[in-house]
Amino acid sequence: MHNTILITGGAGFIGSHVVRLFVKNYPHYQIINLDALTYAGNLENLKDVKDQPNYKFVKGDITDEPFIDELFATYKFDGVIHLAAESHVDRSIMDPLAFIKTNVMGTAVLLNASRKYWKDNYEGKLFYHVSTDEVYGSLGEEGFFTEQTAFDPRSPYSASKASSDHFVLAYYHTYHLPAIISNCSNNYGSNHFPEKLIPLAIHNIKNNKPVPVYGKGENVRDWLFVEDHARAIDTIFHKGRVGETYNIGGFNEWKNIDLINLLCMIMDKKLQRAPGTSAKLITFVKDRAGHDLRYAIDATKLNKELGWEPSLQFEEGLEKTVEWYLANEEWLEHVTSGAYQDYYSDQYQKR
Ligand code: NAD
Ligand code: DAU
Repeated sequence: MHNTILITGGAGFIGSHVVRLFVKNYPHYQIINLDALTYAGNLENLKDVKDQPNYKFVKGDITDEPFIDELFATYKFDGVIHLAAESHVDRSIMDPLAFIKTNVMGTAVLLNASRKYWKDNYEGKLFYHVSTDEVYGSLGEEGFFTEQTAFDPRSPYSASKASSDHFVLAYYHTYHLPAIISNCSNNYGSNHFPEKLIPLAIHNIKNNKPVPVYGKGENVRDWLFVEDHARAIDTIFHKGRVGETYNIGGFNEWKNIDLINLLCMIMDKKLQRAPGTSAKLITFVKDRAGHDLRYAIDATKLNKELGWEPSLQFEEGLEKTVEWYLANEEWLEHVTSGAYQDYYSDQYQKR
């Protein structure tokens, strides 16, 4: 079952952890990593698996229909794990159409190719769509997102992801395409692009630059270690029920300002700075437009049905993450040179 697998977006943050896990755990599978290598895609993330015999990288765009059709014809995939996306909320506020193109059109192109090449003979086939908790909208002080929570996306990013989820379910209901969706909370860990809160803060603290906190830092996110997300994807891909949605999260809510203060303490310790040094860099800046107040995932279904649970406590995971960034200065230098500087000044200069 699922012997030749297409993983899209495998050069990105979460995708690279999923590719590594599958290449290492399933030597009898053939893993094809398809990635357009946008600013967020980086083959350095996969240098430890690049020469494995069961791994192949293909550069290409999921919105390019003839190319995707040809790829399906060439490799005859049994399974698809779809992670390729534009993933940053702030960029979606700057340029919503890029998100509609990749996240909506790109997903539809992949669904269509799967249907066409599987020719309605779905035995042993699976389309696994990796999505986000942001499709559910924003919570107040209490409650959780469950798999039954109605979609209420509020940013161009989350609207594009919600739309892609709807297309996956439409293909399942209309054409019986065997599909599964998971909706995960905020990930953190190694290889995270430093446009997102945690790696951006680590990078700035290291360089004694201001750490921008939107609004009053009161917004709450539910953080999960990226390797735990990759394990959840493995579990769901192999054991999940077709047509189902699974929420993934670590029951680990943090107010942004509390998280940043914890991170500052860890950075002081690791950089051997006097306690309180890094926290002086915290700078409250203009809030994100339409900033969702709180996300919190109820991952009971995944735990009860498939036995998955997170492996790491947050403090431990955050410390491991900081250690990785401090030990991988070259990675950070490469991804923050060039176009990153332009993005950073567009996003933060006038805040
Ligand atoms: P990322 O931005 O780090 O990586 C995205 C990857 O997709 C990059 O390698 C990029 O080159 C590739 N890509 C972008 N457009 C492409 C295109 N048109 N064709 C082919 N490849 C393309 O994203 P991430 O944080 O690793 O997120 C991966 C997936 O997981 C996304 O679908 C995202 O919505 C979802 N997700 C992310 C989080 C999170 O906290 N980061 C949480 C839940 C769900
Ligand atoms: O919930 C899952 C989602 O988590 C994923 O689907 C997205 O792909 C991923 O980017 C992430 O979205 P967020 O918007 O929650 O992540 P981000 O790291 O951008 O922001 C986390 C919180 O920190 C959010 O409340 C905004 C705030 N923030 C962010 C940045 C970049 C700041 O205060 N300052 C910043 O500079």
